[in-house]
Amino acid sequence: MDLEEIRKRAVEGIEKATTANEIAEVRIKCLGRKQGEITLALRALKDLPDAEKRKTGPLLQKLKAEIEAALVFREKELENAGRIIDITLPGEKTERGHLNLLTQTEDEIRRIFNSMNFSVIDGPEVEDEYHNFDALNIPAWHPAREMWDTFWLKPQKNNDKKRYLLRTHTSPMQIRYMEHHKPPFQIISVGRAFRYEATDATHEMDFSQVEGLMIGEDVSLANFKFVISEFFRQFFSDKEVEVRFRSSYFPFVEPGVEVDIRLDNSRWLEMGGAGMVHPNVLKSVGYNPENWQGFAFGFGVERLAIVRHKIPDIRLFRSQDLRFTKEF
Ligand code: PHE
Repeated sequence: MDLEEIRKRAVEGIEKATTANEIAEVRIKCLGRKQGEITLALRALKDLPDAEKRKTGPLLQKLKAEIEAALVFREKELENAGRIIDITLPGEKTERGHLNLLTQTEDEIRRIFNSMNFSVIDGPEVEDEYHNFDALNIPAWHPAREMWDTFWLKPQKNNDKKRYLLRTHTSPMQIRYMEHHKPPFQIISVGRAFRYEATDATHEMDFSQVEGLMIGEDVSLANFKFVISEFFRQFFSDKEVEVRFRSSYFPFVEPGVEVDIRLDNSRWLEMGGAGMVHPNVLKSVGYNPENWQGFAFGFGVERLAIVRHKIPDIRLFRSQDLRFTKEF
């Protein structure tokens, strides 16, 4: 009985096998229960002389185990041949999503004002004419209405006398809050505003504003200057921020100002409007202007982020351009 011969044939067959079927064939040829070479050899043991039996028996068992292992090994090898794994390649990075820069900025604004004891309120993006204009001292005949190019909405019901629009600023939130609260208080509201106008690098028709309102017995523009300077200081992480007011006009404040800031001695940049709430606005919500006064402001949220992160174009915020989204 030539064990070496059996081993050689088995090894050759296993090495030549390139499919699972061929492996199965070799397995049957060697280990098959009826005609397998090893099986036959084991069966033939009984005809050998005792001394021979004792020598060959264990060798045959060992060979059988070896062939079995070789078959399994080759089987795995063929299985893996299709997908070569190069363990020296760098791993694949799992990408995690994150909040858009606009949302991050809005959160940061709320956090800072909240730390200065301002409450954060929220309200509708679809407004009525009264809250967006009339109550803010901008009656229908007022030429100042032209300051806000408006998306007017089609009436939903025929008998509805009210006219609806996409709010052109967050200032209606001043009215909505004062209608239901008594002073003194200080609030902000962050949210979307819409203007029916052409867009360019510094103008969007769908943008975000932060509205602020503080009413008390003797709240003044000086208080506003402190609050807003403190806000800028925190928002621009302790950078040197200069704040300047330029006289301006908004129907719902008197006096009205435009607020500019300057970082590190560079250009002056316009951040938004502000002023002392107009007595007519206070009256429209039932406050006595003899007893209460205060400031209001409305800033562009994107503008703040643009200055902080040196962003070239406001339209990037809502462009859904992944290069922009991923950068922040
Ligand atoms: N609502 C004004 C605008 O969007 C900004 C503003 C708010 C001005 C509050 C004064 C006071 O143009």
